[in-house]
Parts: sequence; C-alpha cells; structure tokens
Amino acid sequence: MVQLTLPKNSQLTEGTVWPKPTGANRLAEYKIYRWNPEDGKNPHVDTYYVDRDDCGPMVLDGLIWIKTKIDPTLTFRRSCREGICGSCAMNIDGTNTLACLKSMDDVTASAVKVYPLPHMPVVKDLVPDLTQFYAQHASVEPWLHTETPAPEKEWKQARGDREKLDGLYECILCACCSTSCPSYWWNGDRYLGPAALLQAYRWLIDSRDEATGDRLDHLEDPFRLYRCHTIMNCAKACPKGLNPAKAIAEIKKMMVARQF
Ligand code: SF4
Ligand code: SF4
Ligand code: FES
Repeated sequence: MVQLTLPKNSQLTEGTVWPKPTGANRLAEYKIYRWNPEDGKNPHVDTYYVDRDDCGPMVLDGLIWIKTKIDPTLTFRRSCREGICGSCAMNIDGTNTLACLKSMDDVTASAVKVYPLPHMPVVKDLVPDLTQFYAQHASVEPWLHTETPAPEKEWKQARGDREKLDGLYECILCACCSTSCPSYWWNGDRYLGPAALLQAYRWLIDSRDEATGDRLDHLEDPFRLYRCHTIMNCAKACPKGLNPAKAIAEIKKMMVARQF
C-alpha cells in the first residue's frame, strides 16, 4: 500500500479533552478540528462534552453551546440556523452538510466528529477559505443578461419556463457539493465544480436570458466543464436535495446540440 508522508506541521494531533459539565445526565461527545494560524501549532482535535438537556437538538446547537459555555475561542460560521444562508456547512460524521440541519441523534458514530469542508484552505478551526469558490460563482455571471430594451414593468416569463428553474434556484451556495467532488479536489483551480456549474445552468435555461451563446463559449473548456466524471458525490452531499450532476449533464447536452 502507498505510504503518504504529510509535512510535519500539517499532521493532526490529539488536542485538549475538556472536562464534562457537572451534573449533566445526557452527554454528547464532540470531537472538533481546531487550527489557529497564529499560534504556530499543528491542527488538533479537541474533545468536548455537551449537556444535551441544556442544549438544542442540532449539531450547530452543540457548537454554539460549546462556544458559549466552554470555549469561546472555537470558531465557525453560522447565521440563519434554518438551512437558508449556507454558512454553517462543514464535515460532520464524515459527510459535508449543514450543521443547523443535522440532528445530533442522526450521527452514526459514538462521537460527533466535526471538521471543516474538505480540501479547502482553512482560515481558522471550522472556517474554510471560500474565496476561490465565490470567484468561480462570479465567473459564470449569475445574473440576467439581455440585449432587447428593458420592458416598462418587468421581464415576463411563462409558467412552464419558470418551472424549469425549479431544482436550481434553491441553491444556497453552501459549497457542500463542490467540496465533496473528487474532480474539484484535484483541479479546483481550473474546474468550476458542481455549485458554480449548477448556477451556470440556471442562467443558461432562463427563458429571459439572451447570452446563451456567450455563456456556453465561456464553459467550452477542457477543465471548466469537462472535469465532471459523473461520480455523483455532489448530488449525494447537497443538503437542499439538488442534483448538480444532472445540471452539468444538461450543459454538456447543450454543447452538443449547438453544433448541429
Ligand atoms: S458528478 Fe461531477 S460534479 Fe458531481 S461529484 Fe461527480 S465529478 Fe463532481
Ligand atoms: S447545489 Fe446544494 S450543495 Fe451545492 S452549493 Fe448549492 S445548495 Fe450547496
Ligand atoms: S446557519 Fe444558515 S444554513 Fe445553517
């Protein structure tokens, strides 16, 4: 078997085991990835115990409880707490998902293991650097392009055309899909990844958009689009039940269709 040697400063070490809360009857054990770029230490995994009778049911509730009651230095993103903002995406129990939608009861391992989204640079603890991810989203120009003069009131859309956007417009840009995609892991600098491509398709099939040719030209590239090998991790990971792999396949079909 191939033996990989990691650089010394990237090796994950055992961290602090924090004391159990006194008087608690029901405990959840959390094992959380910690890394602080300012202390010069290796990343490590800290162990915490959450009093479940004093805490909400979701993994995010546990993280907030730990930050409030045990360790204020624990760093993670969250905002809406209801699966809308996409900011609490992280790797929980081995799967990319939203911490606010993942119940502690649904964790299969004995401890709740929480890591940042994989294969992204880490800013601190559970916060990934999404700069490139957002730049890729911006590169597909996710807004309406028109050439005909703007109507007095609004751009109209038939009901059937509007329905074509279902399964696409719901994307919350959480990055769970792109960071679970092996092609994106290895070529993330050049392959746009499932999230940006799902958005690209959302604008390609918008009946009001008049830049279809330019949009396809932008994607006609061996890396930007064609690194998808239909592995389907993206669809499995999406916490909103979307299917980026299908959207990518539809873009490929549009590429073929425009040649005839
Ligand atoms: S189907 Fe394509 S985009 Fe989705 S995980 Fe696989 S390679 Fe990545
Ligand atoms: S397609 Fe799903 S997993 Fe990917 S960014 Fe959008 S909501 Fe998140
Ligand atoms: S906090 Fe907004 S999606 Fe989880």
